[in-house]
Parts: sequence; structure tokens; C-alpha cells
Amino acid sequence: MEGIEKVYGFLDRAQTYYLATVEGDQPRVRPFGTILLYGGRLYIQTGKVKQVSKQLALNPEAEICAFSGGEWLRISCELVNDDDRAVKVAMLEKMPELRAMYSPDDGNTQVLYMKNATATFSSFTKAPETVTF
Ligand SMILES: Cc1cc2nc3c(=O)[nH]c(=O)nc-3n(C[C@H](O)[C@H](O)[C@H](O)COP(=O)(O)O)c2cc1C
Repeated sequence: MEGIEKVYGFLDRAQTYYLATVEGDQPRVRPFGTILLYGGRLYIQTGKVKQVSKQLALNPEAEICAFSGGEWLRISCELVNDDDRAVKVAMLEKMPELRAMYSPDDGNTQVLYMKNATATFSSFTKAPETVTF
């Protein structure tokens, strides 16, 4: 399995991950759950009205952390906006609960993909494993 697929599988199983951004010199972190592997890229979804979106527009550097099954994953990456409507459609198809709040053409829905990602799987019992994508 490719590294990006392994990261996708972990985040999908974990259901919730924590996304950290930077605002000036202040870290900001919040729970997220959207995740989609599409066209060889790993996407998350948010709303352009949110602070998280505004922070990423100014500084795309992000870190993601999730814990599942005794292992944790930390991803250091940039999050890059993608205006491709097809990705938004695919995201809303994969996560139908989003459709109550978002639609592809609402001017708010935003998808971003991980770029220059370094992802490390860790546990207390095994050596860490790092993948890049
Ligand atoms: C379990 C869980 C999953 C969430 N997933 C997302 C998500 O994928 N995208 C999103 O924009 N907000 C998601 N939220 C809501 C954000 O955490 C919330 O809007 C947060 O305030 C956004 O950060 P900000 O206030 O810094 O913009 C989720 C909340 C919870 C509790």
C-alpha cells in the first residue's frame, strides 16, 4: 500500500483528527473529520467563512494529529486550496452529513489538499514509520 493510502485509511478509521494552523505566532487547533483520497491527493473540507480557512489562506503550514487503535499519526504539511468542483462533489458524496450545511456551488465550501506532507505513525511498542507524499 502506498504511504498516502495508509494515511487515508488511518484518518478514515480514526474519524476525528485535530488540525493545527498558525495565526501570527499563535497555534490554533480544532477537531476535523472530513477526509477524501481523490486523484492521488488527500483532501480535507472546510468553509471559507471559518477562521481556519482564513488562517490557511495567509499561511498554509498545518499539522494534523489523530489517534486510533493504540497508534497515533502526525502529519506536517501545507494545505492548498483546490477550486475543482469535481472534488467538492466527491467530498460531499463521501460525507453525506455535510450536505445539510454545504453544497458545491454555495461559495463557502472549500477543499484543500495536503502538499509536501511528512506523516509519521507512532506507538509505544513499535519504531516510528514515516511516509512522505
Ligand atoms: C468531530 C468533529 C469533526 C469536525 N470536522 C470538521 C471538518 O471536517 N471541517 C470543518 O470545517 N469543521 C469541522 N468541525 C467543526 C470545527 O471543529 C469548528 O467549526 C471549528 O471551530 C473550526 O475552527 P476555527 O473556529 O478555528 O475556524 C468538526 C467538529 C467536530 C466536533
